[in-house]
Amino acid sequence: MSGKVYIVGAGPGKKDLLTLKALEVIKKADVILYDDLIGEVAEFLKETNAELINVGKRRGAHKFEQEEINRMLLEYAKAGKIVVRLKGGDPFVFGRGGEEVEFLKKNGIEFEYVPGISSAIAVPGKVGIPVTHRKYDPAVVFITGQESRERMNWEALAKLNATIVVLMGLSNIEMICKNLIDHGKDPETPVAVIEKGYSDEEKLVVGKLCDIAEKVALERISPPAIIVIGRVVELIANNSKI
Ligand SMILES: C[S@@+](CC[C@H](N)C(=O)[O-])C[C@H]1O[C@@H](n2cnc3c(N)ncnc32)[C@H](O)[C@@H]1O
Repeated sequence: MSGKVYIVGAGPGKKDLLTLKALEVIKKADVILYDDLIGEVAEFLKETNAELINVGKRRGAHKFEQEEINRMLLEYAKAGKIVVRLKGGDPFVFGRGGEEVEFLKKNGIEFEYVPGISSAIAVPGKVGIPVTHRKYDPAVVFITGQESRERMNWEALAKLNATIVVLMGLSNIEMICKNLIDHGKDPETPVAVIEKGYSDEEKLVVGKLCDIAEKVALERISPPAIIVIGRVVELIANNSKI
Protein backbone atom coordinates (compact mmCIF):
# COMPACT_ATOMS: atom_id res chain seq x y z
CA MET A 1 0.00 0.00 0.00
CA SER A 2 1.30 3.41 -0.86
CA GLY A 3 1.95 5.99 1.87
CA LYS A 4 1.11 9.65 1.98
CA VAL A 5 3.01 12.88 1.46
CA TYR A 6 2.30 15.97 3.55
CA ILE A 7 3.42 19.23 1.94
CA VAL A 8 3.98 21.26 5.10
CA GLY A 9 4.77 24.90 5.89
CA ALA A 10 7.18 25.50 8.78
CA GLY A 11 6.24 29.17 9.15
CA PRO A 12 8.83 31.93 9.51
CA GLY A 13 11.21 29.94 11.70
CA LYS A 14 9.87 30.23 15.26
CA LYS A 15 8.75 27.09 17.04
CA ASP A 16 5.61 28.69 18.42
CA LEU A 17 4.56 29.88 14.98
CA LEU A 18 4.31 26.33 13.63
CA THR A 19 0.70 25.17 13.25
CA LEU A 20 -0.66 22.38 15.47
CA LYS A 21 -1.44 20.37 12.33
CA ALA A 22 2.16 20.69 11.12
CA LEU A 23 3.48 19.50 14.50
CA GLU A 24 1.05 16.57 14.45
CA VAL A 25 2.28 15.33 11.05
CA ILE A 26 5.94 15.93 11.95
CA LYS A 27 5.46 13.72 15.02
CA LYS A 28 4.00 10.84 13.02
CA ALA A 29 6.30 11.04 9.98
CA ASP A 30 8.57 8.19 8.89
CA VAL A 31 10.66 10.48 6.70
CA ILE A 32 11.07 14.25 6.74
CA LEU A 33 12.60 16.05 3.76
CA TYR A 34 13.28 19.59 4.93
CA ASP A 35 14.65 22.88 3.60
CA ASP A 36 17.15 25.28 5.11
CA LEU A 37 14.75 28.06 6.02
CA ILE A 38 12.93 26.25 8.84
CA GLY A 39 14.80 27.92 11.74
CA GLU A 40 13.95 26.71 15.24
CA VAL A 41 11.44 24.18 13.88
CA ALA A 42 14.49 21.95 13.25
CA GLU A 43 14.47 21.28 17.02
CA PHE A 44 11.14 19.45 16.72
CA LEU A 45 12.60 17.21 14.03
CA LYS A 46 15.31 15.93 16.38
CA GLU A 47 12.63 14.80 18.83
CA THR A 48 11.09 12.41 16.25
CA ASN A 49 12.17 8.94 15.15
CA ALA A 50 11.82 9.95 11.50
CA GLU A 51 14.58 9.67 8.94
CA LEU A 52 15.73 13.27 8.41
CA ILE A 53 16.95 14.47 5.02
CA ASN A 54 18.12 18.05 4.47
CA VAL A 55 17.29 18.84 0.88
CA GLY A 56 17.85 22.57 1.40
CA LYS A 57 18.81 24.35 -1.73
CA ARG A 58 20.89 27.48 -1.50
CA ARG A 59 21.72 29.59 -4.53
CA GLY A 60 25.14 28.61 -5.79
CA ALA A 61 25.31 25.53 -3.56
CA HIS A 62 22.51 23.30 -4.72
CA LYS A 63 22.25 20.23 -2.57
CA PHE A 64 19.39 18.47 -4.34
CA GLU A 65 17.75 19.18 -7.66
CA GLN A 66 13.94 19.36 -7.71
CA GLU A 67 13.79 16.16 -9.80
CA GLU A 68 15.77 14.31 -7.13
CA ILE A 69 13.43 15.56 -4.40
CA ASN A 70 10.41 14.47 -6.46
CA ARG A 71 11.96 11.06 -6.98
CA MET A 72 12.54 10.66 -3.23
CA LEU A 73 8.96 11.69 -2.42
CA LEU A 74 7.74 9.08 -4.86
CA GLU A 75 10.02 6.30 -3.65
CA TYR A 76 9.25 6.80 0.03
CA ALA A 77 5.52 7.11 -0.58
CA LYS A 78 5.53 3.97 -2.74
CA ALA A 79 7.31 2.16 0.10
CA GLY A 80 4.27 2.97 2.27
CA LYS A 81 5.93 5.70 4.35
CA ILE A 82 4.40 8.80 5.85
CA VAL A 83 6.48 11.54 4.26
CA VAL A 84 6.67 15.15 5.41
CA ARG A 85 8.02 17.65 2.91
CA LEU A 86 8.79 20.60 5.19
CA LYS A 87 9.39 24.04 3.75
CA GLY A 88 9.97 27.52 5.19
CA GLY A 89 6.93 29.78 5.39
CA ASP A 90 4.07 28.46 3.30
CA PRO A 91 4.77 25.75 0.69
CA PHE A 92 2.61 27.46 -1.92
CA VAL A 93 4.21 30.91 -1.68
CA PHE A 94 7.30 30.77 -3.90
CA GLY A 95 8.03 27.41 -2.32
CA ARG A 96 7.67 24.98 -5.23
CA GLY A 97 4.88 23.23 -3.32
CA GLY A 98 2.70 23.56 -6.41
CA GLU A 99 5.24 21.72 -8.54
CA GLU A 100 5.52 18.90 -6.03
CA VAL A 101 1.74 18.55 -5.78
CA GLU A 102 1.52 18.38 -9.58
CA PHE A 103 4.13 15.64 -9.60
CA LEU A 104 2.40 13.65 -6.83
CA LYS A 105 -0.98 13.92 -8.57
CA LYS A 106 0.54 12.73 -11.85
CA ASN A 107 1.96 9.70 -10.05
CA GLY A 108 -1.22 8.89 -8.15
CA ILE A 109 0.29 9.54 -4.70
CA GLU A 110 -1.98 10.65 -1.88
CA PHE A 111 -0.99 14.03 -0.47
CA GLU A 112 -2.19 16.77 1.84
CA TYR A 113 -1.27 20.46 2.01
CA VAL A 114 -0.55 21.84 5.49
CA PRO A 115 -0.29 25.65 5.31
CA GLY A 116 2.36 27.65 7.12
CA ILE A 117 2.63 31.32 8.03
CA SER A 118 4.42 32.92 5.09
CA SER A 119 7.46 35.11 5.70
CA ALA A 120 5.94 37.40 3.07
CA ILE A 121 3.41 38.60 5.65
CA ALA A 122 4.96 37.69 8.99
CA VAL A 123 8.46 39.15 8.51
CA PRO A 124 7.22 42.66 7.60
CA GLY A 125 4.66 42.38 10.43
CA LYS A 126 7.40 41.46 12.89
CA VAL A 127 9.08 44.86 12.38
CA GLY A 128 5.76 46.72 12.53
CA ILE A 129 4.75 46.80 8.87
CA PRO A 130 1.24 45.50 8.15
CA VAL A 131 1.24 44.64 4.43
CA THR A 132 -2.12 46.37 4.10
CA HIS A 133 -3.67 49.26 5.99
CA ARG A 134 -6.95 50.97 5.17
CA LYS A 135 -5.27 54.39 5.18
CA TYR A 136 -2.89 53.39 2.40
CA ASP A 137 -2.91 51.27 -0.77
CA PRO A 138 -5.93 49.01 -1.37
CA ALA A 139 -3.90 46.02 -2.58
CA VAL A 140 -0.79 43.96 -1.89
CA VAL A 141 1.29 42.17 -4.49
CA PHE A 142 3.86 39.45 -3.80
CA ILE A 143 6.60 39.16 -6.41
CA THR A 144 9.79 37.18 -6.85
CA GLY A 145 12.95 39.17 -7.42
CA GLN A 146 14.28 36.43 -9.68
CA GLU A 147 11.86 36.85 -12.56
CA SER A 148 13.10 37.87 -15.98
CA ARG A 149 12.53 41.42 -17.20
CA GLU A 150 10.22 40.16 -19.93
CA ARG A 151 7.70 38.26 -17.80
CA MET A 152 7.23 40.93 -15.12
CA ASN A 153 4.87 43.74 -16.06
CA TRP A 154 6.79 46.60 -14.42
CA GLU A 155 4.51 49.22 -15.89
CA ALA A 156 1.43 47.65 -14.32
CA LEU A 157 3.26 47.16 -11.02
CA ALA A 158 4.45 50.76 -10.92
CA LYS A 159 0.94 52.07 -11.64
CA LEU A 160 -0.93 49.77 -9.28
CA ASN A 161 -1.69 51.34 -5.92
CA ALA A 162 -0.34 48.39 -3.99
CA THR A 163 2.18 47.41 -1.37
CA ILE A 164 4.83 45.40 -3.23
CA VAL A 165 6.47 42.60 -1.25
CA VAL A 166 9.53 41.13 -2.94
CA LEU A 167 10.90 37.70 -2.05
CA MET A 168 14.33 36.55 -3.23
CA GLY A 169 14.97 40.10 -4.43
CA LEU A 170 18.11 41.21 -2.64
CA SER A 171 20.59 40.47 -5.42
CA ASN A 172 18.40 42.41 -7.87
CA ILE A 173 17.28 45.26 -5.63
CA GLU A 174 18.91 47.94 -7.77
CA MET A 175 17.23 46.62 -10.94
CA ILE A 176 13.84 46.27 -9.19
CA CYS A 177 13.89 49.85 -7.87
CA LYS A 178 15.11 51.22 -11.20
CA ASN A 179 12.40 49.40 -13.16
CA LEU A 180 9.68 50.74 -10.86
CA ILE A 181 11.03 54.31 -11.03
CA ASP A 182 11.49 54.12 -14.82
CA HIS A 183 7.86 53.03 -15.14
CA GLY A 184 6.55 55.93 -13.08
CA LYS A 185 6.62 54.89 -9.40
CA ASP A 186 7.47 57.80 -7.11
CA PRO A 187 11.20 57.61 -6.22
CA GLU A 188 10.27 58.84 -2.71
CA THR A 189 8.16 55.72 -2.03
CA PRO A 190 9.24 54.24 1.33
CA VAL A 191 11.00 50.88 1.27
CA ALA A 192 12.03 48.48 4.05
CA VAL A 193 14.39 45.54 3.80
CA ILE A 194 14.31 42.93 6.53
CA GLU A 195 17.10 40.38 6.72
CA LYS A 196 16.68 37.03 8.55
CA GLY A 197 13.37 37.97 10.17
CA TYR A 198 12.56 36.18 13.44
CA SER A 199 16.20 35.20 14.04
CA ASP A 200 18.79 36.66 16.41
CA GLU A 201 20.47 38.15 13.36
CA GLU A 202 17.39 40.06 12.21
CA LYS A 203 18.29 43.38 10.58
CA LEU A 204 16.14 46.19 9.25
CA VAL A 205 17.06 48.91 6.76
CA VAL A 206 14.62 51.58 5.65
CA GLY A 207 14.89 54.07 2.84
CA LYS A 208 13.24 55.20 -0.38
CA LEU A 209 12.96 53.62 -3.78
CA CYS A 210 15.72 55.97 -4.97
CA ASP A 211 18.29 55.17 -2.24
CA ILE A 212 17.47 51.77 -0.70
CA ALA A 213 19.88 49.79 -2.93
CA GLU A 214 22.76 51.95 -1.73
CA LYS A 215 21.71 51.64 1.93
CA VAL A 216 21.40 47.86 1.66
CA ALA A 217 24.93 47.64 0.24
CA LEU A 218 26.30 49.93 2.98
CA GLU A 219 24.66 47.85 5.72
CA ARG A 220 25.90 44.63 4.06
CA ILE A 221 22.45 43.06 4.12
CA SER A 222 22.50 39.42 3.05
CA PRO A 223 19.81 36.85 2.17
CA PRO A 224 17.27 35.75 3.10
CA ALA A 225 15.62 39.14 3.05
CA ILE A 226 12.21 40.59 2.26
CA ILE A 227 11.74 43.93 0.52
CA VAL A 228 8.57 45.91 1.24
CA ILE A 229 7.76 48.81 -1.06
CA GLY A 230 4.90 51.14 -0.20
CA ARG A 231 3.51 53.68 2.20
CA VAL A 232 2.74 51.03 4.84
CA VAL A 233 6.48 51.22 5.62
CA GLU A 234 5.69 54.58 7.28
CA LEU A 235 3.94 52.59 10.02
CA ILE A 236 7.14 50.96 11.11
CA ALA A 237 7.28 50.28 14.82
CA ASN A 238 10.69 51.72 15.62
CA ASN A 239 11.95 55.19 14.84
CA SER A 240 14.12 54.21 11.86
CA LYS A 241 14.67 57.15 9.60
CA ILE A 242 13.23 56.72 6.10
C1 LIG B 1 12.14 30.37 -1.84
S1 LIG B 1 11.34 31.69 -1.02
C2 LIG B 1 10.35 30.79 0.10
C3 LIG B 1 9.25 31.58 0.74
C4 LIG B 1 8.44 30.78 1.72
N1 LIG B 1 7.71 29.73 1.07
C5 LIG B 1 7.47 31.63 2.54
O1 LIG B 1 6.24 31.51 2.38
O2 LIG B 1 7.95 32.40 3.38
C6 LIG B 1 12.66 32.26 0.00
C7 LIG B 1 12.58 33.76 0.25
O3 LIG B 1 11.66 34.03 1.29
C8 LIG B 1 12.08 35.15 2.03
N2 LIG B 1 12.30 34.74 3.43
C9 LIG B 1 12.01 33.55 3.94
N3 LIG B 1 12.26 33.52 5.27
C10 LIG B 1 12.72 34.75 5.59
C11 LIG B 1 13.15 35.37 6.80
N4 LIG B 1 13.14 34.71 7.94
N5 LIG B 1 13.55 36.65 6.75
C12 LIG B 1 13.55 37.34 5.60
N6 LIG B 1 13.17 36.82 4.42
C13 LIG B 1 12.75 35.54 4.43
C14 LIG B 1 13.36 35.65 1.37
O4 LIG B 1 12.99 36.62 0.41
C15 LIG B 1 13.87 34.39 0.72
O5 LIG B 1 14.76 34.68 -0.32
